[in-house]
Amino acid sequence: MSTEAPGRVNLLGEHTDYNDGYVLPTAIPQTTSVSLRENGGKQFSVYAAELAQAAKFAMESAPHEHFASYVYGCLRELRDHSFEAPPLDIYISSRVPIGVGLSSSAALEVATLRALRQLFNLTLDDVAIAQLAQGAEIRYAGVNCGIMDQMASSLADTRSMLFLDTRTLQRRVLALPARTEILVIDSGVARSLAASKYNERRAECEQAAQLLGVKALRDVSNAAAIEKLPQPLRRRARHVVSENNRVLRAVESIDAASFGQLMNASHRSLRDNYEVSIRQLDRLVELLQSQSAVHGARLTGAGFGGACVALCVEGEARAIGERVLDEYNTAAQQGRILVPPSIDSRV
Ligand code: GLA
Repeated sequence: MSTEAPGRVNLLGEHTDYNDGYVLPTAIPQTTSVSLRENGGKQFSVYAAELAQAAKFAMESAPHEHFASYVYGCLRELRDHSFEAPPLDIYISSRVPIGVGLSSSAALEVATLRALRQLFNLTLDDVAIAQLAQGAEIRYAGVNCGIMDQMASSLADTRSMLFLDTRTLQRRVLALPARTEILVIDSGVARSLAASKYNERRAECEQAAQLLGVKALRDVSNAAAIEKLPQPLRRRARHVVSENNRVLRAVESIDAASFGQLMNASHRSLRDNYEVSIRQLDRLVELLQSQSAVHGARLTGAGFGGACVALCVEGEARAIGERVLDEYNTAAQQGRILVPPSIDSRV
């Protein structure tokens, strides 16, 4: 029994999901697959092929191996949801790049839950799977994340964008702007501060919402009130409110050039207001934006390293990526094209 789930790349709506806002991700071609079978023993046994790591655990004691905590989290969340899985042999194989902001963890969680749903015939819809996956990430992997990644892995496909209201979970599947193609480049810089800074930004947003007297920054209707907030809360709120507006503009069937402008504006705001960019991401984005066949480019994911996404003229993405990397790469700094995937990583 084997199932798979994709990673995701977010096109617009960064750091909005934990503010009850709007996001616009799409699935990437790379997937994680999970195979399960009952082992008749007392322990779960997990093997991650690409990491060449194994782990064993019982339901009562969390594994020490980080990769296994995602699987453990899914089993525990499912148990709280009323189904206790018997001990299983679990085999993971993943083509989703790890640690670059393309949601390899959400892909693993969603693939695990899909495999459990299939093996045990569970009545779980795709939204329930995303919710359980988010619970696993928050409670067992220690990241106080929003729901974008898990919803994207569970519901998005590679040909469309998933427009999601993270408060109501209402969503629409929309076509990518006509005659465009997605390019994702890893900056080669590890996201070392991502977890601590992510939680810090989240706390700042909550503080800003409280001072503004709203449940979440999504509810801010009086832009002038933001300007009275103390710094850095003012900059943080400016980002979230403007980013939500950018998503709402992007889903009004605009053309590729206008969509690209919104991506460029998103990067500026992430850099200047939200302060989650770094020098290398700014450089990559600048190189991408200087290409005539690029409509727009920005950092994607939580920031502090990881990947950039660009909206390109269809058929041009790989050539653009190679040109940009010619300029970006140095002996000490190696970026790489992640989407479109190379022929090797599609096998
Ligand atoms: C990470 C989190 C998401 C989201 C993004 C930033 O990927 O897991 O929930 O907050 O960062 O947009």
